[in-house]
Amino acid sequence: MTSTFAPTPLTQRAAWQALAAHYEQIREIHLRELFAEDPTRGERFALEAEGFYLDYSKNRLTDETLRLLSALAEESDLRGRIEAMFSGEKINTTEKRSVLHTALRAPRGATVIEDGENVVPEVHAVLDRMAEFADRVRSGEWRGYTGRRIRTVVNIGIGGSYLGPDMAYDALKHYSARDLKVRFVANVDGSNFAEVTHDLEPDETLFIVCSKTFTTLETMTNAHSARRWCLAALGDEQAIAKHFVAVSTNAAEVEKFGIDTAHMFGFWDWVGGRYSMDSAIGLSTMIAVGPEHFRALLDGFHAMDEHFRTAPFERNLPVLMALIGLWYNNFFGAQTVAVLPYDYYLGKLPAYLQQLDMESNGKHVDIDGQQVTYQTGPIIWGQPGTDGQHSFYQLIHQGTKLIPCDFIGFCQTLNPIAPHHDQLMANFFAQTEALAFGKTEAEVRAEGVADWLVPHRVFEGNRPTNTLLAERLTPGVLGKLIALYEHKVFTQGVIWNLDSFDQWGVELGKVLAQRIIPELESTGETALTHDSSTNALIRRYRRAKRQ
Ligand code: F6P
Repeated sequence: MTSTFAPTPLTQRAAWQALAAHYEQIREIHLRELFAEDPTRGERFALEAEGFYLDYSKNRLTDETLRLLSALAEESDLRGRIEAMFSGEKINTTEKRSVLHTALRAPRGATVIEDGENVVPEVHAVLDRMAEFADRVRSGEWRGYTGRRIRTVVNIGIGGSYLGPDMAYDALKHYSARDLKVRFVANVDGSNFAEVTHDLEPDETLFIVCSKTFTTLETMTNAHSARRWCLAALGDEQAIAKHFVAVSTNAAEVEKFGIDTAHMFGFWDWVGGRYSMDSAIGLSTMIAVGPEHFRALLDGFHAMDEHFRTAPFERNLPVLMALIGLWYNNFFGAQTVAVLPYDYYLGKLPAYLQQLDMESNGKHVDIDGQQVTYQTGPIIWGQPGTDGQHSFYQLIHQGTKLIPCDFIGFCQTLNPIAPHHDQLMANFFAQTEALAFGKTEAEVRAEGVADWLVPHRVFEGNRPTNTLLAERLTPGVLGKLIALYEHKVFTQGVIWNLDSFDQWGVELGKVLAQRIIPELESTGETALTHDSSTNALIRRYRRAKRQ
């Protein structure tokens, strides 16, 4: 069944127009005033759900803003679109695909229909095979060609076949087997492969070649280099079976590469690359942390899925965060969002969210191919606190750009070494307080600061932040956190009327690179037919490379 809802163009929706008028009224209001008007604001503008406490009080919005934003979500048929996604409708229209990453974490026994078939049994069949394999590698039962146990797993993959596993390996390091390392080769730059493998023993190394399509240039080039590296040391084609497994939707290409499909873990075209970390693409994660922790991760995703599907919009974490983000993106003209985890283990979360958000909503036409007349996806960036405080926070505090920030922190540390965690969290709370309330000229003067220095010492404040606080970073909490952002991105894509699940924008560069590769490899002076800039650059490269 395909939904037939045809939304009114976004900027003509009643709630959008009301928001535009409302923006004019409140654009200058300072958070200091909003807090002064309502002493309960800090508790009122907060939401506790699924183990998270979201404090959104330090945002430039009122009850009326939230009411209008919720109305916008209703007018955009968000409810209908959520159901369309969860029920397997082909909402990725440009690729004619369902979008069912939520089925990857459905409990055994659940039913999710795609093209008339319940996909949950196959999902669990793959998870079971992964678990059996992960246990064999972890226990040392799976041996390399020479009989030695596997000490390092190398994930070869890029984009969605890398960023999730890489982020999750760091995020869940505390839960991982310490006698087994996981490393990642993503970049086609040979230095990535060289550095990752330089201290590894081929007979103790297992390569997981992860690629949805199994045709991606970077991954195939790295996989072939890995194959040569392995064969150079072990000298026998038979060794490949012990040192290579594949994760893909493309069995034919896996076989062509020379990996037995018995050692392939499949997934499906209804899983987008950037939504695939809880499919077999997560095999390295499962080997690192074990099947039980991996299941806990999936259960976390699933809990957030259910919350997203059932909670009313005003009590719905992903919806609320999406609406607040949209408020700044479309009305305040904010261009970026900073994601600032106050947890060392979440160091790669911003990079992961960059693909999730920017590949999903970085679109200039709507789902019907019409040029949009409003801003779509923001630029996502960030890095863990407190490091960032000593570099780019200056600009967030006193620069000329409005940068809404998500602060993510935990009440309990996984490494209780006094006094670190209290100091970390003191900074966490201090930053959002400083960003919101700043320091007035009167306050600066009261400190006896010299006149000439006063303007430099004033903090305007009124810089918006969300604070997302959880008890402790566990696999389940990580799953919930990622699902929260997935659904936030989805919600924004629905309101902007985008296909958030295609990524045509990455194609042109890939095609041009394929054309340029032989031009760089050729030893003769092949004629170049690019623009004058590209021709000159290529000629220069060819000359310099031969010297
Ligand atoms: O180039 C972008 C992209 O298609 C991503 O969407 C995807 O995650 C990545 O490449 C890797 O693709 P694959 O898993 O097919 O190798």
